[in-house]
Amino acid sequence: MGIWVWLAALLCGSQAAVLPPPWADKGHPCPDTQELSPGRWGGRTIAECKCPPGTAHLPQASTCYKLFERGPCRTGEYFAPVEESFNKRGERQGMCVRPQQCADETLLYWPPDGRCYYKLTQGPCYQGSILDVGNDGLANCTCKKDGANYWPGDGNCYSHYSRGPCEKGQLFLPEAKCDSLGPCSKGHTFALSEVSSNGSRAQCKCKPFHARATDGMCYRLYTRGPCAQDEMISRGGRCIKVPCARGRLYVPERRRCYRPGAAEPCPLGEVVAFDFEARPAVDGLSHNGVCACGTGM
Ligand SMILES: *[C@@H]1O[C@H](CO)[C@@H](O)[C@H](O)[C@H]1NC(C)=O
Ligand SMILES: *[C@@H]1O[C@H](CO)[C@@H](O)[C@H](O)[C@H]1NC(C)=O
Repeated sequence: MGIWVWLAALLCGSQAAVLPPPWADKGHPCPDTQELSPGRWGGRTIAECKCPPGTAHLPQASTCYKLFERGPCRTGEYFAPVEESFNKRGERQGMCVRPQQCADETLLYWPPDGRCYYKLTQGPCYQGSILDVGNDGLANCTCKKDGANYWPGDGNCYSHYSRGPCEKGQLFLPEAKCDSLGPCSKGHTFALSEVSSNGSRAQCKCKPFHARATDGMCYRLYTRGPCAQDEMISRGGRCIKVPCARGRLYVPERRRCYRPGAAEPCPLGEVVAFDFEARPAVDGLSHNGVCACGTGM
């Protein structure tokens, strides 16, 4: 029965056999972190030592750890309930599992409901806190005084580009500013994001073919943006090394570099060309290669 110890069996009417546990003389009947609670064994109600709700133990061990946190697991893993043990045996057993992958790196996996939420938004957190990566590598609801989402006015944290602590009509912006965002910061458009009976909410969103980098601004994909000299902004707002040699263009659909004028990745009659929608004065040099009408060079 592993660590399951039953102390008393309450048999229909008859005097129950009481099994004194080996540690009964120490005054506390259960191993540390466990507690005495009613359970069932066959048709009987018994008292047994169990992990308290919201916690579980590893097989062959008695220490209880909080579920959906790192607990006894390696960095990057979390302690998950073994559903079968909960359902069939009323036992609270856990195991270490790796969080699932979310679609991209702007999202964080939240073990308790198995969903992905945007980083630095309220997500599943209580109001005033935001979802961020904890020092165990797992999603954590937090509000750091030195963080970009902190609002000294009330000591809470808010998602940028939401109303947050601001007056009606204003948005909470990076650098802890409330502003009526006609002027969205660089690379954004101001768009309605929510229409409800209580009023609508507008939000700054990245323009099409732009991604939000870690500085909160949106940059045109495959330009340098805020990245280092030989890097460019990729989908999800990450800085990646420019994969192309000088003079070559990156064709995202192929994830490869081609020389301008090459026919190979394009439909018949088109060749690789510079991205004519990128405006070097505004966006910086673009490494993006597009297919445009023309003949090979
Ligand atoms: C999660 O956030 C809370 C509140 O900021 C903090 O006390 C705790 O140390 C964090 N946990 C991890 C694992 O980072
Ligand atoms: C409207 O506001 C009320 C009270 O402030 C709130 O309970 C309700 O959920 C809101 N409805 C919507 C659709 O946001």
